[in-house]
Amino acid sequence: MIAAPVGRALVLLLPPASTFPPPPSPPPPLLFSPFNRRRSSASSLLPSSGILRANSKRSVLAPRSRTISAMANDEETLGSLKKQLAKLFEASLRVTVPTETDVEPLVAACTGNFGDYQCNNAMSLWPRIKGKGTEFRGPPAVGQALMKNIPQSEMIEKCSVAGPGFVNVVISKNWIAKSIQKMLTHGIGEWAPRLSIQRAVVDFSSPNIAKEMHVGHLRSTIIGDTLARMLEFSNVEVLRRNHVGDWGTQFGMLIEFLFEKFPNWEHASETAIGDLQAFYKASKQRFDEDPVFKERAQKAVVKLQGGEPKYRKAWTQICDISRSEFAKVYQRLGVTIEEKGESFYNPYIPGVLEKLSNLGLIEESQGARVIFLEGFNIPLIVVKSDGGYNYASTDLAAIWYRLNEEKAEWIIYVTDVGQSQHFEMVFKAAKRAGWLPADNNSYPRANHVGFGLVLGEDGKRFRTRNTEVVRLVDLLDEAKTRSKAALIERGKDKEWTEDELEQTAEAVGYGAVKYADLKNNRLTNYTFNFDQMLNDKGNTAVYLLYAHARICSIIRKSGKDMEELKKTAEISLDHPDERVLGLHLLQFAENVEEACTNLLPNVLCEYLYNLSENFTKFYSNCPVIGKPEEASRLLLCEATAVVMRQCFHLLGIVPVYKI
Ligand code: ARG
Repeated sequence: MIAAPVGRALVLLLPPASTFPPPPSPPPPLLFSPFNRRRSSASSLLPSSGILRANSKRSVLAPRSRTISAMANDEETLGSLKKQLAKLFEASLRVTVPTETDVEPLVAACTGNFGDYQCNNAMSLWPRIKGKGTEFRGPPAVGQALMKNIPQSEMIEKCSVAGPGFVNVVISKNWIAKSIQKMLTHGIGEWAPRLSIQRAVVDFSSPNIAKEMHVGHLRSTIIGDTLARMLEFSNVEVLRRNHVGDWGTQFGMLIEFLFEKFPNWEHASETAIGDLQAFYKASKQRFDEDPVFKERAQKAVVKLQGGEPKYRKAWTQICDISRSEFAKVYQRLGVTIEEKGESFYNPYIPGVLEKLSNLGLIEESQGARVIFLEGFNIPLIVVKSDGGYNYASTDLAAIWYRLNEEKAEWIIYVTDVGQSQHFEMVFKAAKRAGWLPADNNSYPRANHVGFGLVLGEDGKRFRTRNTEVVRLVDLLDEAKTRSKAALIERGKDKEWTEDELEQTAEAVGYGAVKYADLKNNRLTNYTFNFDQMLNDKGNTAVYLLYAHARICSIIRKSGKDMEELKKTAEISLDHPDERVLGLHLLQFAENVEEACTNLLPNVLCEYLYNLSENFTKFYSNCPVIGKPEEASRLLLCEATAVVMRQCFHLLGIVPVYKI
C-alpha cells in the first residue's frame, strides 16, 4: 500500500508543458561563471536552455562540505566572548595534552559564585589519557594544568579549579567595559556573529493561493522572518522564498467557475471576485455537486498546464488577487519575501526526476514512481499512478534548484511539525542523490524548522466562534485596536499626536503578536491570548518595548549629548549590578549566534528579557543623573538601548522611544 507522505497532494498531469510557466527572462551567459565550471550538471536538466539562471553575486564558491560551527575569526578581538574564551582554552589544551589533537574546548557560561564561564574538558579528557603514561593523577590535576596553560589575556581577571577539574573563569570587568565602549563607537555590527556560509534560502510563510492565510502561516511568517533577519545580521545573503501553493487541480475548478460567474472576467477589474475564499468555497460546492462542471474543471487543468493563453490569463488573475491579499499581511508585519511558487519549479521536475532515475533511486510501485528510503516505512511518491506530480516532486525540484542553481549553502524550511516527515524524506533523497553531504553537520545543509499548533484559549486548534479559520488581518487589527485602547487609557491621546498614537499602537500590537509566538520553543503548541500578550508586565513585547522607551527617556532627561559622551567618557563597572549588566550586554553575540545556528528564536527572546531584568536591577540600585558615575552609567544605558533595539530588529519588532 502506498500512502501519500503528506496530507495534501498537488496533481499535475503528464506530460507537463515545457512552455508553461514561461521561462524566466534569458540569463546572462554562464560560460565564465565559477559555479558553472564546478557544477556543470545544471543546464542538462532543463527543457530549454533559456530557463537557466545564474543567480549569483558571489565570485567564489564555498567549499562543498564544511563543519557547521560559526567560523573562527582571524582578527584578534572579533567573535563572541564565549568563542574568544574557547580559543584561549584551545591553546591551553594543545599544550596540556599535546597527544589529544582532536579535543575541542568545552566552554559554557555559568551563573554562580565561582565564575562567569567554565571549561569542562578535564573530566572527559581523563579516561582518554589515563592509560597512556600521563603525568596527571586525575581530572582535578588536568584542570589545574589547563588553567595554568591558558595564554596570558586581558579578558581574564582570575581563574580557579573546582570539583573534578572544572576551570572557572572570571572575566575582567575592565575588559568588559572596554568591549562595550568599542561597540558603542563602532556600532552593533561589531557584535554580529560570523558564520562560515555566504548564502542561505529561507523558505517561509508559503500560503496557498485562493485559500486564506491562516495562523499556521502567521507562525511560519514570523519565525521565518526572524531567522532570515538573524542570518542577514550575520552577513549571510538570504534568499527569502515564498513557496506559495499556486499550482494544482483546484485551479481548473476556480478557472471554470470564474468563466461561469463572470463571463466578462477579462474586462472586469480584479475586485469582481471580491472575497477569494468565498469564491473558492462556492466553486468547490459547484465542483462537488455538478458532474458536468467537474468534468469541465478537470479538462481546464489540462488546458492550463498545456499553456493555453485564456486559461493562463485566468490563472494569473486568480493568483494576483491572492497575492495582493498576502501582501497586505506582509506589509503590516514588515516582512519582505520573494515569491517563487510551486509553479516556478514545475519545468524542472522532469529533469530532476530523470537525474534521480539515472542514479537508480526511482522505482515503480503499484503504478506510481517512488523512492524507497531507509528508515521510512512508506516511500516518497514522486509520480502518482495517474502520471501527476505532487508536493514531493515539486520539493525535490526546488531543493535541487536551490542547491545547484542558486548555490545556497543552507536551506531552511519553516512549516508546522506535521510536515517534518515530508522534509526528512526529501532531504534523505537529496543526500542519496549526492546533492547534500551525508552527515548533518556539514554544509551545504537543509533543515526543517517545525513548529507546533496555535491553540485557542479552550486548548483546541485556534478558530473563531463559527469554527472558521481566523483571518490574519483581523488578528492584527484587533491587536492594534487593543493596544491603542490601552494607550488611550494611559492618557497618551492627550500627550501625543494622532500619528504617534497610531504608530505606537501598531508597534506594540504587532510586536506583541510576534513576541508571543517567538518566545516559546517553536516546537511546542502555543496558546493565542490577547490579554496575555498585551500585558505590560511579565515576559511580553509590551513590557520590553516600554522598558526600552524608559531607558530612552532617562537618556533624554539627562540632557547629555551621547555622541560626545561616547568619545569623552569611560565606562566603569564597579557596582556588582553594573558588572552583571555589562557582562550580559557582552553576551549578546553568543546568544544571537546560538539562536541563529540552532534555529531557535526563543533563545534571543530569553536573552532580551534577561537584559531588561538586569537593567531594572541596575537602575534601581545605581542612580544615574547627578551622580559622579553619571557619564559611565549613561553610556551603560545607551549600550542597553542599542542592544535591545538590535534584538527588536532581529525579532521583527519596531521599537518605541517614548511611553
Ligand atoms: N504551501 C505549503 C502549506 O501551506 C507550505 C510550503 C512549504 N514549503 C515547501 N517548500 N514545501 O502547507
